[in-house]
Amino acid sequence: MNTALKPVLLLLLASVSASALADDAKPVTEQLVDTLTQLAGGPHPKFRANHAKGIVAEGVFTPAASAAEITKASIFTSSNPVTVRYSDATGVPNIPDADGNAFPKGIAIRFNLPDQSLADLVCISVNGFPSATPEDFLGLLNAVAASGKETTKPSTIEKYLGSHPAALKFVTTPKLPPESFATQAFFGVNAFKFTNAKGETHYGRYRIEPVTGQKFLSPEAAKAADANYLMNELPARLKSGAYSYKISVQIAEADDTLNDATVSWPDSRRVVELGTLQIKAIKADGASYERQVMFSPLNLVDGIEPSDDPILLARPSAYAVSFGRRLQ
Ligand code: HEM
Repeated sequence: MNTALKPVLLLLLASVSASALADDAKPVTEQLVDTLTQLAGGPHPKFRANHAKGIVAEGVFTPAASAAEITKASIFTSSNPVTVRYSDATGVPNIPDADGNAFPKGIAIRFNLPDQSLADLVCISVNGFPSATPEDFLGLLNAVAASGKETTKPSTIEKYLGSHPAALKFVTTPKLPPESFATQAFFGVNAFKFTNAKGETHYGRYRIEPVTGQKFLSPEAAKAADANYLMNELPARLKSGAYSYKISVQIAEADDTLNDATVSWPDSRRVVELGTLQIKAIKADGASYERQVMFSPLNLVDGIEPSDDPILLARPSAYAVSFGRRLQ
């Protein structure tokens, strides 16, 4: 080796390993936000690192009598005003609503309680997740990021999907664009522990289903859809009246997996209605509201606790990294 080059090479290697070390030394949740940002062509200042494009509405939740059987939580045993943010997936702020990458859609529901406390439900439009742990999810996102630049086959993502069946199932799930956010069902995916007034406990997963049923665009309509068709449809719909969903919880049986969001439970599991979510209007100051708030699946009230699902437990710190950055 040309000895004159050696110090330069050593310096380069040192800086490469120092930056690799710095990345590894970051918490996995921060690395997840970094990769989500990279995949979205960001950073996009002021926008969420995931579910960047959204619209905010407001309404009311009214409990069903059956809710008390499952939980004493005030959000499901009393009627309260709610703020709801719908979103497209990815950190791309102007992603076309019918784009396959805008799947899954998101819903974040904030229950605004009389004592100024709050609780959130943060759900997606598919009943499952590609990865069981944050480390695995980072592996998937990094494989997607690596594959953009590759010319050899199989690509990193093809290899990754070949050895991760849950991720393969997720990415090959049909990405049907809904007619409207009002015709889309949403799922909690992660399990929570619910306690009722008698101290009885159940594990369950949320379901949010439109009372008039799900409706999707035909493939032709999806191709022709305006880039903002969902964001434009909602205000138009609400001018002619409110719409509603049933919120319920699918109850786990003794052997069901509680800590793995890639495993959905059989449809035969009991589903208990918690109540009705009625959406009444677009929130007037929605654009500034969405910038100022962070929804979190661990904003909970007494009667609901997290399961030990590592994806669920990682979400608040990933969201906080994104929130901290978009506030700057
Ligand atoms: C480790 C796994 C996950 C990571 C790293 C992740 C990451 C993120 C990030 C960074 C944000 C933006 C937060 C903000 O700036 O306020 C976000 C938002 C969101 N995530 Fe996740 N997420 C994960 C899992 C999930 C799961 C399992 C669900 C649903 C079951 C979900 C649903 C949503 C929704 C609906 C939003 C938008 C919330 C809003 O409107 O503010 N995420 N996610």
